[in-house]
Amino acid sequence: MRTQVAIIGSGPAGLLLGQLLTNAGIDNVILERASREHVLSRIRAGVLEEGTASMLDEADAGSRMRREGLPHEGFDLAFDGRRHRVDLHGHTGGKRVLVYGQTEVTKDLMDKRAATGARAVYEAADVLPQDFATGRPYVTYKVDGRTHRVDCEFIAGCDGYHGISRKSVPDDAIETFECTYPFGWLGIIADVPPVNEELIYANHPRGFALCSMRSPTRSRYYVQVPVEEKVEDWSDARFWDELRRRLPAATAEAVTTGPSIEKSLAAIRAFVAEPLRFGRLFLAGDAGHIVPPTGAKGLNLAASDVHYLFEGLRDYYIDKSSAGLDAYSAKALDRVWKAVRFSRWMTSTLHRFPDQDAFGQKIQHAELDYLFQSRAALTMLAENYVGLPY
Ligand code: APR
Ligand code: PHB
Repeated sequence: MRTQVAIIGSGPAGLLLGQLLTNAGIDNVILERASREHVLSRIRAGVLEEGTASMLDEADAGSRMRREGLPHEGFDLAFDGRRHRVDLHGHTGGKRVLVYGQTEVTKDLMDKRAATGARAVYEAADVLPQDFATGRPYVTYKVDGRTHRVDCEFIAGCDGYHGISRKSVPDDAIETFECTYPFGWLGIIADVPPVNEELIYANHPRGFALCSMRSPTRSRYYVQVPVEEKVEDWSDARFWDELRRRLPAATAEAVTTGPSIEKSLAAIRAFVAEPLRFGRLFLAGDAGHIVPPTGAKGLNLAASDVHYLFEGLRDYYIDKSSAGLDAYSAKALDRVWKAVRFSRWMTSTLHRFPDQDAFGQKIQHAELDYLFQSRAALTMLAENYVGLPY
């Protein structure tokens, strides 16, 4: 098989890049190790920055998002038993975010790709990017035990944190930066109406909690738990009780409980690989970085990486310029590190750290108080939450 761009991974990054390339007439193929069903079964985040939503429109895969997505102009921070609204719209000159599940984004992009007939190989085993330090890269993979080869001009490693692309880079060509947190997020989805029209991020002595949603009839909740917790130790009843204990009384009263349809535990960490380009191989999305979910940046950084990478590939093939590709890594990493900074700040401000002393709690409290006494402080929060410009 031959193509111009071989994309490894059929998550949001791979599918979005593939659609933009296809729409621009640049041939590409997606190689995905899981089945379509497995990819679509993953429960992930649900807050889209305006830039991400615009990328889906640009990919001609945004119509259901525009119909079903929930525009949000703010969210609440809860601490000391009270809720304080962060007016995103008022502090960013009218920007907002769109609440729309990543699973839906992935489905819309997958459906769009199928409709265009662009090539995608699912359940491709042992995918391996090769010779990307030369001008003749290729990717091998296996289906039903038979090895196949894709000759290409570029390889986009969109295969996530556990993918093969970053691992295929020689150790002396890559530097990684990592920060792991001493807690995790236990999340559930339940078909009950959300407790509030907007999201609520809660700082509580028992730990962080987040009230989110997927639709007016489907809620998404999280509580911070010790890193060694096991999902099987958390019945629905225990989860609902712990969530309500971390919310202001009136909010806790208003929570509609019900059976969970999904329950999972996520480790909280930040990770960045530098650079994001290795000859003809480019890393985009979780393959290159992981952010703490507190700032809802993971999916949105995948979108901004794809924005820069697609621009570079389009300029290469259409304008015969490699300037965009040469600039990709620095531009993407500049935005990645600012999102890591913001997510780390939100995580530090809202979570209870096991080794946190009284001084640390006082600083956390001052941080939260300051937000609602300073327009500049709230503007910092708002402009990062809606997403910094591309
Ligand atoms: N070969 C082929 N495909 C692979 C391989 C491999 N060796 N390893 C992983 N993959 C696939 C995974 O099965 C997955 O479908 O690559 C895809 C990577 O998708 P994501 O992990 O969703 O990463 P990305 O597309 O960058 O999207 C980032 O997804 O995980 C969330 O929180 C994250 O919201 C963020 C978003
Ligand atoms: C979610 O709805 O899953 C979600 C929302 C906001 C976050 C993280 C996760 O910051």
